[in-house]
Amino acid sequence: MNELKHVGIIVDGNGRWATKRNKSRSEGHLEGSKNLEKLILNISESNIKVLSLYVFSTENFKRDKNEVDYLMNLFTKWFKIINKKYKNKNIKILFSGRKENLDKKIIKEIESLEHETNDNTGLIVNFCLNYGGRAEIVDATKKICSDVINDKININNLDEKIFGEYLYNNLPDLDLLIRTSGEQRISNFMLWQLSYAELFFTNTLFPDFTYEEFANIVNSYMKRDRRFGGTNKN
Ligand code: FPP
Repeated sequence: MNELKHVGIIVDGNGRWATKRNKSRSEGHLEGSKNLEKLILNISESNIKVLSLYVFSTENFKRDKNEVDYLMNLFTKWFKIINKKYKNKNIKILFSGRKENLDKKIIKEIESLEHETNDNTGLIVNFCLNYGGRAEIVDATKKICSDVINDKININNLDEKIFGEYLYNNLPDLDLLIRTSGEQRISNFMLWQLSYAELFFTNTLFPDFTYEEFANIVNSYMKRDRRFGGTNKN
């Protein structure tokens, strides 16, 4: 049995789910948000410690302005809703990403969620929003350079462990990555933390992705042979 601390999901396929049903892409995102709300609750009852959700990349600002505006409003309203619901479910919420380009309203909700759930000890849900894996590595490198200049760290002591501590939330490496919707790529998600993650790609579009399918993927993950560059112990 493999250890499973940190799972990542690239939440993909809301737009295609809607187009298939002659609905607007916005309706797909709304459906995706409802599904995500349920999925998080189910996962919070498992033994998984951290769930990172890729919901908006730094590059997603290239999308049509109407879609970006709709998504930002949806996130803002939805964060307000889950603030009440998750606080009492012992779920702790974190965010990874750059706040610079985000609207003040969404930042307010993000900060409130982080604050209200700060003392919770159960599942950590890390929303990756305006997030890019390369941006995260560049941001960590800038902080390290600044700490070297200010004599807070000695460059000779810099190693992978210390580098990891400068990433957005210093989370453990990803064990398992799931991407919905059939695309088989990483799209700039947690490049540092993914080093030895097991990858699973499903054709299911996100609004149809159930906890049952998630649990089946976890079962398959458990049977995978993780070697981390070593040899099989058997
Ligand atoms: C990465 O592919 C996928 C994401 C960053 C997820 C995008 C999902 C949304 C914008 C909707 C989330 C909404 C809710 C309500 C949960 P990419 O599209 O950034 O990159 P690609 O072009 O390589 O596929």
